[in-house]
Amino acid sequence: MEPDVRIREALPEDRDSIQVLMSTYFLDIEGVKIEDFAVALTGTKIVGAGAIVNGRFPEVHSIAVHPNYRGKGIGSSLVRYLLIRIKGRSDVVSCVYARTTSPRFFEKLGFMEIEPTAKARLWEDCAGCDRLNTCRQSVMCLKLG
Ligand SMILES: CC(C)(COP(=O)(O)OP(=O)(O)OC[C@H]1O[C@@H](n2cnc3c(N)ncnc32)[C@H](O)[C@@H]1OP(=O)(O)O)[C@@H](O)C(=O)NCCC(=O)NCCS
Repeated sequence: MEPDVRIREALPEDRDSIQVLMSTYFLDIEGVKIEDFAVALTGTKIVGAGAIVNGRFPEVHSIAVHPNYRGKGIGSSLVRYLLIRIKGRSDVVSCVYARTTSPRFFEKLGFMEIEPTAKARLWEDCAGCDRLNTCRQSVMCLKLG
């Protein structure tokens, strides 16, 4: 990662910048708590953000890097930072999941793709979605422990 980029926990006042960044990629952060996010900054500018939400299991959610900063290791560093938060829970959770249209990015971080039918089993919003059978999101799983 570029030396002038740093990662920290998100603060309440970061919410609008995170929202703007996510809207670049039509990613929806409604329902995701600000404290679940981490942000990547260069100076005071937020150039990347991502969250791990904790429901029945942890899920990497809403990860995005500003178009001018992609391909510099920022996305990977954000996911690694977020994963440290849940490493201590490996006795109670066995897997971290992600639903994504960028499966190769997650594979590089050690995630494995699992069968797409898992979507309906794992997520209520997927089970009730009328686009379930045409959805292009892959389901990725990183085993803990
Ligand atoms: C996906 C995303 C967060 C990756 O962030 P990034 O900072 O560009 O990623 P990195 O620089 O850490 O890339 C790590 C590796 O993954 C690869 N990679 C990154 N994005 C990729 C993608 N969309 N498809 C395939 N490979 C990808 C990189 O080439 C790199 O490979 P390398 O180690 O061999 O060089 C960023 O591209 C993005 O914001 N995309 C749009 C939003 C999105 O699709 N989010 C994920 C779905 S929820």
